[in-house]
Amino acid sequence: RGDRAQDRDLAGRHVVISAGGTREPLDPVRFLGNRSSGKQGYALARTAVARGARVTLVSANSALPDPAGADVVRVGTAVQLREAVLKAAADADAVVMAAAVADFRPAEYATGKIKKKDGEDPAPIALVRNPDVLAELSAGRPRPGQVVVGFAAETDDVLANGRAKLARKGCDLLVVNEVGERLTFGEESSEAVVLGADGSETPVAHGPKEALADTVWDLVVSRLP
Ligand code: CTP
Ligand code: CA
Repeated sequence: RGDRAQDRDLAGRHVVISAGGTREPLDPVRFLGNRSSGKQGYALARTAVARGARVTLVSANSALPDPAGADVVRVGTAVQLREAVLKAAADADAVVMAAAVADFRPAEYATGKIKKKDGEDPAPIALVRNPDVLAELSAGRPRPGQVVVGFAAETDDVLANGRAKLARKGCDLLVVNEVGERLTFGEESSEAVVLGADGSETPVAHGPKEALADTVWDLVVSRLP
């Protein structure tokens, strides 16, 4: 943001950010998870603190150190993340869902470690749907004018899939990243386009995750009542 680095345009605002990736346990030692590092969500938290916001960071299984000045709530599963985000969102001006939330969780949790048996094929793992936190937030809006932002990683037809997802979720902004084998996951930089429910399209060049984060905050600030 260069010459605008002094802006404290989020002063007096409460923002909630989810980061990392949920883990859905099968038994006490195993889980279904994903490769999200939490870097983008943590960059959003750092930049929001720098811009003067009160920040609640709901962090799912990230190994990153707590960002200075943010309230960090640690969660494991999608159900726990939902509870923490909805609670913090009650008085939030903006909610940014940067976490990779598992779409499904194992239908059963084994309280003891699952063991293999000689000569027996493994049993299939039955899954059930997790709640869609972003869709619920977008429909709920506990605070009038609250701005809700989602993230989507797409491999094909990035813009078309992003537009359809934005409409389906009902959020105000959707940050769409193109991902492939070596793109984005765990990397320091990313390339993205931010789609607005108002039809706007803001491309963000390949660069540090802080730059994308600051663009997201610019777009959020311009939508705050
Ligand atoms: N998300 C969520 N709750 C879920 C799944 C996703 O809140 N159960 C949020 C993510 O945090 C992200 C956005 O929704 O901000 C988009 O996630 P994505 O996985 O791309 O969307 P899905 O609707 O799950 O679509 P897909 O079938 O492509 O995975
Ligand atoms: Ca998903």
